[in-house]
Amino acid sequence: WAKKTGMMYYGAATDTPGQRERAGYEAQYAKYDEILKDPKQFGQTTPTNGMKWLFTEPEPGVFNYTEGDFVANLAKDTGKILRCHALVWHSQLAPWVEARTNWTKAEMREVITRHITNVAGYWKGQCYAWDVVNEALDEDGSYRKSVFYNVLGEEYIKLAFEVTARVDPGTKLYYNDYGIERPASVKTAGAKRLVQMLKDAGVRIDGVGMQAHLHADNHPTAEDHENTMRQYLELVEEVAFTELDVRITDPANETSLEWQKDSYVQVAKACAKVKGCVGITVWDFYDPFSWVPYTFPGKGAAGLWFEDFTEHPAVQGVVQTL
Ligand code: XIL
Repeated sequence: WAKKTGMMYYGAATDTPGQRERAGYEAQYAKYDEILKDPKQFGQTTPTNGMKWLFTEPEPGVFNYTEGDFVANLAKDTGKILRCHALVWHSQLAPWVEARTNWTKAEMREVITRHITNVAGYWKGQCYAWDVVNEALDEDGSYRKSVFYNVLGEEYIKLAFEVTARVDPGTKLYYNDYGIERPASVKTAGAKRLVQMLKDAGVRIDGVGMQAHLHADNHPTAEDHENTMRQYLELVEEVAFTELDVRITDPANETSLEWQKDSYVQVAKACAKVKGCVGITVWDFYDPFSWVPYTFPGKGAAGLWFEDFTEHPAVQGVVQTL
């Protein structure tokens, strides 16, 4: 979809089979995979779960790459760009990291360093970009009080970027978060401060990932997106929409699907226009595999294909925009 623009890709994130959102949908896999793998549809992919700490280092020093490899290999086999997600994040963290409260600074430095050395080392050369640190900010733009922050303060962010840069020098290093799509929000300001903090410390950061989990009935305009991206691009080389979906209040109707179409179109317009916006990733394109319904009760239809594999109006909207 991104072919005619300056963007590198329009992609779709995907999960590994066997995880709960796919259970009971075995009969749909063939059609799903056909769309996912079609290079005319999506030029990029991201594992929605498989590279997270919970899966890659479930026990201290015990690494497992099976889930992540599923999507990494799919990318390889179908010629897609791979974004890798996510090295240091407070959520879907292994319980052994999260549950312990008496970490020393030295131990925590070592745990982060070992995790990144192994995980980024394993997929070295395969990841166009890594979400090095994910969601380090609270809604008010201050640092989130994660276990990493509570032990190390902002040092953990610097450490994560430094280690990743060392382990896989060829990958783009991203800070990734949600709610940082609007130009005047306090969280956008927080993201800029975080990037500036790294730059002041002489630590490399290449990109800001705007997750863009949007709401159909109250979505940013292309101008909003553009304005936000330009703020980040004063600090970093590139930006991307990394987890785009647009949730609708159940049941979706013609009006809300039109709002949704506009949401997707505004993102596409903005990214196509701004040099430095490398691409857009939809956080799974098939509604039954979306995280939205089970995470936000009463919301749904956030993707681009309905359960019966008919297209949301947004598909033609995006195709015509790009
Ligand atoms: C979500 C996945 O899609 C779900 O399957 C999982 O249960 C929870 O996480 N921000 C992120 C993503 O950075 O990793 C999250 O993905 C959605 C919010």
